[in-house]
Amino acid sequence: MSYQDEYQASINDPATFWAEKARQIDWYKPPTNVLSVDEHGIHRWFADGELNTCHLALDYHVDNGRADQIALIYDSPVTNQQKKFSYRELRDEVALCAGMLKAQGVEKGDRVVIYLPMIPEALISMLACARLGAVHSVVFGGFAPPELAVRLDDATPKVLLTASCGIEINRVIEYKPIVDKAIEMAEHKPGRCIVLQRSQATASMQTGQDLDWEQAIADAEPAACVAVRGTDPLYILYTSGTTGKPKGVVRENGGHAVAMKYSMSAIYDIEPGEVYWAASDVGWVVGHSYIVYGPLIHGCTTVLYEGKPIMTPDAGAFWRVISEHGVKALFTAPTAFRAIKKEDPEALLARQYDLSCLQTIFAAGERLDPPTYEWLAETFKVPVLDHWWQTETGWAIAANLHGLESMPVKSGSSTMPVPGFNVQILDEAGHQLPSDEQGFIAIKLPLPPSCLTTIWGDVERFKSNYLETYPGYFTTGDGGYFDEDGYLFIMGRVDDVINVAGHRLSTGEMEEIVGKHPMVAECAVIGRRDELKGQLPMGFVVLKDTEGVKPDEIVQELVALVRQDIGAVAAFKEALVVGRLPKTRSGKILRKTLRAMVDGDDYVVPSTIEDPAALDEIKVLL
Ligand code: COA
Ligand code: AMP
Repeated sequence: MSYQDEYQASINDPATFWAEKARQIDWYKPPTNVLSVDEHGIHRWFADGELNTCHLALDYHVDNGRADQIALIYDSPVTNQQKKFSYRELRDEVALCAGMLKAQGVEKGDRVVIYLPMIPEALISMLACARLGAVHSVVFGGFAPPELAVRLDDATPKVLLTASCGIEINRVIEYKPIVDKAIEMAEHKPGRCIVLQRSQATASMQTGQDLDWEQAIADAEPAACVAVRGTDPLYILYTSGTTGKPKGVVRENGGHAVAMKYSMSAIYDIEPGEVYWAASDVGWVVGHSYIVYGPLIHGCTTVLYEGKPIMTPDAGAFWRVISEHGVKALFTAPTAFRAIKKEDPEALLARQYDLSCLQTIFAAGERLDPPTYEWLAETFKVPVLDHWWQTETGWAIAANLHGLESMPVKSGSSTMPVPGFNVQILDEAGHQLPSDEQGFIAIKLPLPPSCLTTIWGDVERFKSNYLETYPGYFTTGDGGYFDEDGYLFIMGRVDDVINVAGHRLSTGEMEEIVGKHPMVAECAVIGRRDELKGQLPMGFVVLKDTEGVKPDEIVQELVALVRQDIGAVAAFKEALVVGRLPKTRSGKILRKTLRAMVDGDDYVVPSTIEDPAALDEIKVLL
């Protein structure tokens, strides 16, 4: 079927389209109610179907001829280790881990927070939760205690799973002090904290709270898969919104499994049995969907890489992994390629490896900028495909549907809407815009399977954040346009969310933290353009009192505050102390103008500006 036929079928009759795709997975009880509307008026997929996501990812394959196929390759240059797990071995490890959780009283619907580095236990514990019908919430290892504490309070987990440390290139990051501090800060204390001791650091254990992972596993009995309904939650993944409180995106079992299965062939053009590598982190949505669930549900071999694109040990690391493990498709964030290109512009390191297995390169997380696209396409001579998606959807909204019909690539575009996503460009008033006109990107309801159906514990926030701006549409928070050929160009966020090295962060949250400093009267944080990381946060700060104050010292304190409250990953390292912030007469800070000034772009001083001298002062400081 051509892309257009497939896409039209998905838009004209979504229920029939997805009922057919749902037959590709092994339900315990196939759904008869494919698309319904719940008591909050939200569309739900496969409400009466019964399944288990861990069964689909592991047991199904063990029982259907893949027991001895490698399911997982753990490749860790930072510890000099590699480990391979067959589907049978992984199923057995997951069943034991599920038994360990069960022994702690974890049951269907209970939450488990996972704060682990990129080690097999991260993937094993996610699948173990899915096996029990419990809901996991993975917290990215780069987050500081307050971020973990907020998630503990929101998800109210029964158990927290962690390890003694993570490893950042050659730096050992001790996790246990972070976890202990977070538990101390949180109102909700998990009943049990299970700690994996890694050889690089030994965590100190607290009697009553902590349990040694190895010991607990040794005592565990394997647990079987528990049937859940299509609409039961599989996981909560917190993501940055415009305020300090992260949003708990809820992913449901049924729609997610169907979308994962479909995407592996339609978007990534991967067959069961092939090796697929998403070089991301299990703490982000890309890691959830394409390190763990997508490849395993599809019967592939997935790679879990504990390292960086550069420095572990060099910019040839990705190419080594690809050639050593026979990777067919690589998926990562453009920032990783920019880092490699900077270190090895001629790709000399890549030439040391046989990369004949590599058939496609996928990029997402931020726009694939044309210079990086061209470097990749010319160097590797394989299709290089940008695709656009968000934590909220769990899979691509726009892509080059490589497995259906490869479309010519237009540099700077993520190609066309994925079947199921009725993407429209709207103006401020909600009217559809013609091609080539830039506006707000919205998706006409119903959203396809796998997209969020609520924010954990707060359906009203879900509605007000996403569904109320344009009734009948989901607002994505991104701006962009379609060209006359129907190619979609994403031009960036229209809210206070920024993208730093593929990590989604909230400038609103940083403003809240900076604003807490006793010397700060007011502040603004914007995302400035950065050649390597895409964007970097930058603060503008007005002090309460400047007498006897050293601005540089205050800036250093602010940098330390953001690092302490969000984590190193926020990369907040730059702030300017200014006399006043540029504002409109109604008091709105002119963040867009500030951004354009810092980036050296053209800008028009808004006629509503209260005090044009504020901009002049900043221009001089820059
Ligand atoms: N645990 C603890 N700290 C972490 C961390 C983790 N899991 N991940 C990152 N950090 C720290 C880093 O050590 C760094 O600390 P520093 O300020 O003390 O040096 C800081 O957070 C910023 O990290 P990062 O954004 O990774 O920048 P970097 O300069 O260390 O590396 C890249 C640059 C491009 C190599 C790196 O950002 C990268 O690999 N990006 C790919 C991102 C990605 O896969 N995104 C997923 C979406 S698909
Ligand atoms: P996250 O929820 O962390 O996946 O971040 C989602 C945001 O990243 C989107 O709203 C976009 O702003 C940005 N993004 C992701 N993929 C792309 C892409 N291919 N092109 C442009 N922006 C992207």
